Amino acid sequence: MSSDIPTDPYDSVLGLRVVRKYLDQPVTSDDQQAILEAGRWTGSAKNRQDWLFLVVDHPDQQVRLAGCGQFSQPLRDARFIVVPVRTPGGYEFDIGRVSQNMMLAGAARGVGSCPVTLHDEACSAAVLGLPPDHQARYALCFGYPDTDAEAELRASRSMGGRKPLDDLIVRNRF
Ligand SMILES: Cc1cc2nc3c(=O)[nH]c(=O)nc-3n(C[C@H](O)[C@H](O)[C@H](O)COP(=O)(O)O)c2cc1C
Repeated sequence: MSSDIPTDPYDSVLGLRVVRKYLDQPVTSDDQQAILEAGRWTGSAKNRQDWLFLVVDHPDQQVRLAGCGQFSQPLRDARFIVVPVRTPGGYEFDIGRVSQNMMLAGAARGVGSCPVTLHDEACSAAVLGLPPDHQARYALCFGYPDTDAEAELRASRSMGGRKPLDDLIVRNRF
């Protein structure tokens, strides 16, 4: 995998694809720490850092959490999960930023990742034992990529690609 890691930061941004299939191998504590550290250094509105990083790596807890989402198989398969918990007063925008930074940091070290939506937030609150006014809407799955299984999964579905840039840009106003 290491040979696939881009050295140009711009290539890292453009090349980040989700990974839903992981090798049966734990993610080293160094790599886990690097991912969490990238989250810690993410900028937030007014630098409030209204987030907590809840790490889930117990298989039973992973299965329980998977029950809170509709497309949540990666939560069962992940080697570890980070739930970026929004603490009171926090912004969803910041949760998005912290998530992307952790995913990019993982990719820079050869760790694949996939965000998963926890559609049933009452469920995620109960499973994770969230304090009042804390929110867990997304979970980030991590693991070293199983490239063959991932290629097979992608071949079985039509996934990927992006809208043309010309269809996305609006200048000055609609
Ligand atoms: C906010 C958000 C929620 C997502 N939720 C799920 C999910 O519940 N299950 C899943 O398998 N993928 C989920 N994804 C992954 C998307 O399907 C993926 O980013 C998209 O298909 C593009 O993938 P690619 O970059 O590999 O082309 C989510 C992504 C985002 C940004």
